Amino acid sequence: MNAIVLTETGGPEVLRVGSAPDPVAGPGEVVVALRAAALNRRDVFLRKGIAPSPLPVIPGSDGAGVVHAVGAGVTGIAEGDEVVVLPSLGWGGGEAAPAPGFRILGGPDDGTYAEMVKVPAENVLPRPSRLSWEESAALPLAGLTAYRALVSRAQVRPGETVLIIGIGGGVATIALHLALQAGCRVIVTSSSGEKLARAREMGAAAGFDYTGGDWVSEVKEASGGGVDVVVDSVGSTWADSIGSVRPGGRVVVFGGTGGGKVELMVRPVTMGQVSLLGTTMGSPRDFAGLLAAVRTGGWAPVIDSVRPLAEAGDAHAREEAGEHFGKLVLTIG
Ligand SMILES: NC(=O)c1ccc[n+]([C@@H]2O[C@H](COP(=O)([O-])OP(=O)(O)OC[C@H]3O[C@@H](n4cnc5c(N)ncnc54)[C@H](OP(=O)(O)O)[C@@H]3O)[C@@H](O)[C@H]2O)c1
Repeated sequence: MNAIVLTETGGPEVLRVGSAPDPVAGPGEVVVALRAAALNRRDVFLRKGIAPSPLPVIPGSDGAGVVHAVGAGVTGIAEGDEVVVLPSLGWGGGEAAPAPGFRILGGPDDGTYAEMVKVPAENVLPRPSRLSWEESAALPLAGLTAYRALVSRAQVRPGETVLIIGIGGGVATIALHLALQAGCRVIVTSSSGEKLARAREMGAAAGFDYTGGDWVSEVKEASGGGVDVVVDSVGSTWADSIGSVRPGGRVVVFGGTGGGKVELMVRPVTMGQVSLLGTTMGSPRDFAGLLAAVRTGGWAPVIDSVRPLAEAGDAHAREEAGEHFGKLVLTIG
């Protein structure tokens, strides 16, 4: 099959289409013929060697396509089924945290920048029929992360105010949809006035530029003293996120786009009674919740742009530069 096989780390130019053996469905597994894949910041980290994985590997955590082959012992899934791929591998039965051995599809396990991907049967679910192939492929990793962050971890309630940091991101744009669907008022930050305007068109109540000025004070003023929940995927912003919540507020964190190490003052957390909630990806139950939200929500993931698989390098360059708004999609076949 055609696939992007990462044999070295480096710039976007290391993403070249080559050939890889067709995957074969073993017992309990299925092979999906992919129609589309989508990027995540993790793919950029993988390509640059920041998220280490043994090489060679096929990147890509997100995909949607048609079941091509079904392994022995698999029930309830048939060739020809249209599916989305759940990128949590080996989460296990617990809801509090994944089991030891948990992995994310697309390094070290071969991922979705390919004509076909092999996954455990429990990792394919019917794709939401009202979404396009591109939207279906854009949903899984970012949607799962946003759903678990907001619903399972922060347990947002109608009427609460949610602040989403860096609204241009793939997870952030889906978090905006989910927070609005949950009946929350949403405030966002961004480096771009254009992205702030787009977020307002989507339903955000207010938006502030984080590149200059005192956006924490602006957020506090716009929320009457502090928001209930902050969704922070950046890491280096934790202190400001903690500064943006009301007493007793929650800050839910899952990323380190701004760096993997933070320094915090103890007092704002303790005196403010702030809950710092870590989260990663999500369980099969979270994924089922996400798909139910998509069925009833009337929204679709925001697609920044669509390119053929061969132009994955261009897509990476755009994501790395932070030029995008929403998800970057690769079409296959
Ligand atoms: N733990 C998990 O399970 C999990 C799952 C998914 C993602 N993540 C992590 O979450 C992060 C986001 O992932 P993604 O795929 O959504 O990435 P993405 O689409 O590349 O989004 C990154 C966005 O972060 C914002 N940003 C960057 N620096 C910022 C700063 N200093 N202050 C405020 N905002 C800033 C930018 O927003 P603007 O363009 O609006 O300025 C940018 O568009 C990544 O670090 C990723 O590894 C973790």
